[in-house]
Amino acid sequence: MQASTTPELSQFAADVLAGLSSFPKSLSSKYFYDDEGSRLFQEIMKLPEYYLTGSEMEIFESQADEIFRAFINGGSGFDLIELGAGDGTKTAVLIAHFLEQGAELSYSPIDISQVALDALTGKFSVAFPDLDMRPRQGDYFEILRSLKNGDGRRKVLLFLGSNIGNFTGEQSIDFFRSLREVMGRDDLLFVGFDLQKDPHVIAAAYDDAQGVTARFNINLLTRINRELGGNFDLEKFVHYANYRPIEGSARSYLISREKQVVHIEALESDFAFDQWEPVFMEISQKYNMRMIESLSEASGFEIKENFFDGRRYYCDSLWRVES
Ligand SMILES: C[S@@+](CC[C@H](N)C(=O)[O-])C[C@H]1O[C@@H](n2cnc3c(N)ncnc32)[C@H](O)[C@@H]1O
Repeated sequence: MQASTTPELSQFAADVLAGLSSFPKSLSSKYFYDDEGSRLFQEIMKLPEYYLTGSEMEIFESQADEIFRAFINGGSGFDLIELGAGDGTKTAVLIAHFLEQGAELSYSPIDISQVALDALTGKFSVAFPDLDMRPRQGDYFEILRSLKNGDGRRKVLLFLGSNIGNFTGEQSIDFFRSLREVMGRDDLLFVGFDLQKDPHVIAAAYDDAQGVTARFNINLLTRINRELGGNFDLEKFVHYANYRPIEGSARSYLISREKQVVHIEALESDFAFDQWEPVFMEISQKYNMRMIESLSEASGFEIKENFFDGRRYYCDSLWRVES
């Protein structure tokens, strides 16, 4: 089970080593998005059970003008910076409206996945040929530091898709605080939060009938096999997801169907799994308004305006730096 950590170990390798050496075992969901993972996530967004995309899309389609007024706030333009932009399908709805209103706009989508960024830039260059686009491939935690010195225009940071739900409460506050550090008084932060609702609806979103979410999770084992020389037998793991209404969190796991040992070449290590031992993969936190308010306060923001879909499944919350 032990491996010697060498300085050459990549961050991915180091995180896999730490996760599979701990108890309970875990793997970080931030590694889901290799090329195949990004493609599978685009499939997930189209699933009938995955209501998150449709709910946020409804907000953008029905309230693009209210959102525009709140972003522009009496000024003439702004720099839109999107963290973890994915394929940008929903953001395109906002940008189309902003451009129709004659906004002076630049758009910087940031994503760790080149496949997602290629899909986005391909679509946007056709739909918005005159848009000032500044795509950046990389980890938003690293790119954040370079955002501090903008060109003096208002920055509007977008963090959509309830991506924040993949962080623990403590990580969320740290993340929002680090955003606050690169934001000026006039800048805004627009965050998508999936709200607490019928637990059956939430549970189904993470365990769809077609098994796409299962393939999305299992793909991380394929990635370990390919990039780190692992010998995971994919047939020997089953995807399991549930929703805990008291904590308000959906959780997904890969469970070992049998007692087995997996070898990972790059880690020079064997990892023993008991029969039915779980590997914790992802948390997807669901929020109520009290939680959103306390998150904003704890990280030095105040809520300027909230936007909801008709079913109140989802909230896009617009924050400014606390005065
Ligand atoms: C759940 S998807 C959401 C995409 C989009 N925001 C939406 O609402 O549809 C998360 C996206 O964030 C990207 N991502 C995850 N962690 C990242 C990181 N640390 N730095 C940059 N991008 C990241 C993934 O590649 C993926 O495209």
